[in-house]
Amino acid sequence: MRLERITPENYEAALALSVRPDQEDLVEPVVKSLAEAYVYPEHAWPRLIYDGDVLVGFLMAFLDIPWDPDRDPDDRRSGLWRLNIAADAQGRGYGSFAVDAVCQEIRARGGTRAYVTWEPRAGGPEPFYLKLGFRPTGEQSGGQTVGVLDLS
Ligand SMILES: CC(C)(COP(=O)(O)OP(=O)(O)OC[C@H]1O[C@@H](n2cnc3c(N)ncnc32)[C@H](O)[C@@H]1OP(=O)(O)O)[C@@H](O)C(=O)NCCC(=O)NCCS
Repeated sequence: MRLERITPENYEAALALSVRPDQEDLVEPVVKSLAEAYVYPEHAWPRLIYDGDVLVGFLMAFLDIPWDPDRDPDDRRSGLWRLNIAADAQGRGYGSFAVDAVCQEIRARGGTRAYVTWEPRAGGPEPFYLKLGFRPTGEQSGGQTVGVLDLS
C-alpha cells in the first residue's frame, strides 16, 4: 500500500472513486475535497491510496488549522478531514493504513494529536475509529462527533 499525490495522470480516476450508495451521506465526494484543497492549500493534505497499481481510496488530512477561531484563536488542530475507501475495496485494511499515514504525517510535523469527525449514525464509521483508538472529545462539529487520538 502506498500514497500518491494527485496528478494530471490520476485525477480523473480520483474523481471516479465512490463509496457504497448507502454511505454517501457519510463523506463528501472527492471532487468537493479537491476543491477545498485548492482553497486551503496550506492546510489540506490530499493523497490517493494505492495497492500496487490499483487505486483503492482517497484521504485528506487537515494540518494546523484554526479549529474555532472565535472561541479560541490558539486552538489549532490537525487530523483526518476526509476518508473515502472505494466500495469494492472496503474491509481490507486500507482505511487503517490511511489513518496511520495521516498520523505519521502529523507526528513528522511535530503534532501530538490527530482529530477526526464522524456522522454518529448506525452503519457509520464510529466503530472503525474507536477500534483505531480514537476517543470522543465530548464536542460536536456540524452535528458530527469529534474524536481524538493521542500520538505522543
Ligand atoms: C470507514 C472506512 C473508511 C473504513 O475503511 P476500511 O478500509 O473498510 O477499514 P479497514 O479494513 O481498515 O478496517 C479496520 C477495522 O475496522 C473495522 N471496520 C471498518 N469499518 C467498519 C464499520 N463501518 N463498522 C464496524 N467496523 C468497521 C473492520 O472490520 C476492521 O476490523 P478488524 O481490524 O477487527 O478486522 C470505509 O468503510 C469507508 O470509506 N466508508 C465510507 C465513507 C466513510 O464513512 N468515511 C469516513 C468519514 S469520517
